[in-house]
Amino acid sequence: MKQSIFQYLKKKNISDPFMVDSLFISAFAVKNQWVINVNADLIEHTKCVDPEELNEFIQQLEQCDCDFTFECLIELFEFVVSPKDKVVTGAIYTPKEVRTLIINQVLNALDIKKLKTVKVGDIACGCGSFLMDVALYIHNKTGRNYIDIYKEQLYGIDIQKYSVQRSQILLSLLAISEGEDNNFEFNIKHANTLTYDFEKMISKNGEKLDVIVGNPPYVCSRNMNSDVKVALNKWSVCQTGHPDLYIPFFQIGLENIKENGVLGYITMNSFIKSLNGRALRKYFQDNHFKFDLIDFRDRQIFKSRSTYTCICIIRKEQSSTINYGINKFDSINKVPCFIKVKYSDLNYYSGWNLNQYTKNSSIESVGIPLGEYCSSSHGIATLSNKTYIFHPYFSDDEYYYFNKDGVDWRVEKKVCRSIVNSNKLTKEVDYDSIAEKVIFPYTNDTKPSVIEENYFIDVYPQAYHYLNAHRHLLLSRDKGKGSEYDHWYAFGRSQGIKKTKAKLLFPKIANKPPHCILSTDPDLLFYNGQAFIDDDINKLIVVKRIVESSLFWSYISSTSKPYSSGYYCLNGNYIKNFGIYSFSPTEYEFLISENDQDKINEFIDKIYNNCCFTH
Ligand SMILES: C[S@@+](CC[C@H](N)C(=O)[O-])C[C@H]1O[C@@H](n2cnc3c(N)ncnc32)[C@H](O)[C@@H]1O
Repeated sequence: MKQSIFQYLKKKNISDPFMVDSLFISAFAVKNQWVINVNADLIEHTKCVDPEELNEFIQQLEQCDCDFTFECLIELFEFVVSPKDKVVTGAIYTPKEVRTLIINQVLNALDIKKLKTVKVGDIACGCGSFLMDVALYIHNKTGRNYIDIYKEQLYGIDIQKYSVQRSQILLSLLAISEGEDNNFEFNIKHANTLTYDFEKMISKNGEKLDVIVGNPPYVCSRNMNSDVKVALNKWSVCQTGHPDLYIPFFQIGLENIKENGVLGYITMNSFIKSLNGRALRKYFQDNHFKFDLIDFRDRQIFKSRSTYTCICIIRKEQSSTINYGINKFDSINKVPCFIKVKYSDLNYYSGWNLNQYTKNSSIESVGIPLGEYCSSSHGIATLSNKTYIFHPYFSDDEYYYFNKDGVDWRVEKKVCRSIVNSNKLTKEVDYDSIAEKVIFPYTNDTKPSVIEENYFIDVYPQAYHYLNAHRHLLLSRDKGKGSEYDHWYAFGRSQGIKKTKAKLLFPKIANKPPHCILSTDPDLLFYNGQAFIDDDINKLIVVKRIVESSLFWSYISSTSKPYSSGYYCLNGNYIKNFGIYSFSPTEYEFLISENDQDKINEFIDKIYNNCCFTH
């Protein structure tokens, strides 16, 4: 539907929010036979619409199977937010089922008397879909008029003026659809929630909201403008990593509801484990909130954006546990069975281990954490792999020959090293099929340093000539900072160039137990993926056996960050706490010499079962 409506508005040159809203209101009012005689705001909108244009627009909507329901209107409101605004403000439409689940969770416990006075807010309200559902809920349960509900019970904030306007339109139309045509008084503010003075929200001094619901904006740090970044900084939950914009909305919400009040959000689920969620986890743990967390894991909830989300129902009451459940049902609005996880068992610093909590925390308590057992590396970072890395089509004693963008080059073999992209190890591949060459303008020491330019020109003239021909590309690295490097031909970062006796290469993401390659070539370099590094080769073989085991994969698939198509993140943070058992010399020997993966799986399961799960 969306594309043709967009084309239509573009063709007619209608981009002003007031005019867009006017067309929407008029079309929906005509099709639903809503009579608007009193509401001045809606009348003003409908007055400015040309009847012919309206007919044409209605036909357009009909052709796109628009059913003229409130859900369709809300989707249209989201759709007409410009892509640029969507990136900066995180505007996204929340599906009806999610809103219903949250609203039921936060309001179902209230009796009719309380429902008549409960004050509910959405502090990133968009076009007001949560507010609309709350109003409908209160109206249906208590019979209160919408005019009273809007004036005394509903509160909203949005940073976009058009969102405030659209929330008012939506709520007015809801009332009119039920025969209540009036001029309504709203408490929906056009403001920045991060800096808003909540004392002003409810006129009675100091009174707080009972309930806050919503879908706070998901905006990553690089898409925020500098004002927002400064405003984020004042919130204690934003003190670790690069916080996403949804993170402070938890603290703001919880600080601005009454004791025993409740907050119901759908947000990204990354705070459960991420570095930027560390301060937020600490905040939750320090306050011991009564917390129901429904995790959607890798399931996609939003049509228009790929995001990993969860629903958080947080009561401002003390509890020693978090209730954690995963929604695995067809229907989004079913509440899963919860497991109770003690706050005191959770580690805010390294990330919450909630999924299969008992099993995974037992695994983590075994032996030595993998992150301490051996160190890891992320490989080299040239910041221009296309320039440095190549596949030779031929080689002789002295040179590698390769083609780059249709031009043939040769470079001295002695200034090159072998390199692999260890992210390619998601599949069963052998070393030869993924090995490439990289121009390595460094000395041949254990801790290499960049070779001097005159030496480079004299000793490796072909390689110098090739890089010099791509100099403009190298200078533009690091957003132009490449021109400030001491040596323009050096890699963008000096990481990962040190020689190591042995390394175990493995990918950063995988959709099955990862395939690891053990290399004892001290000169081999790698990029994109990661590697465990140690001088003791046997130790790395043991790590290989464990990382490739079914037990390790079951740990990863229940604790790590999920991506689509069954992929999980294998980055340091997600694997470093896996406990490496202190194997006896015989067990150690078995692991090193055995190659049959089924036998290794059976052996590892047995060892961990004995020490983790038998008591
Ligand atoms: C994910 S949308 C939620 C919309 C609505 N609650 C819904 O579910 O359909 C996030 C909303 O937050 C608003 N927003 C973004 N940054 C904000 C800020 N700093 N203060 C207030 N609102 C903000 C955006 O304009 C957007 O309407």
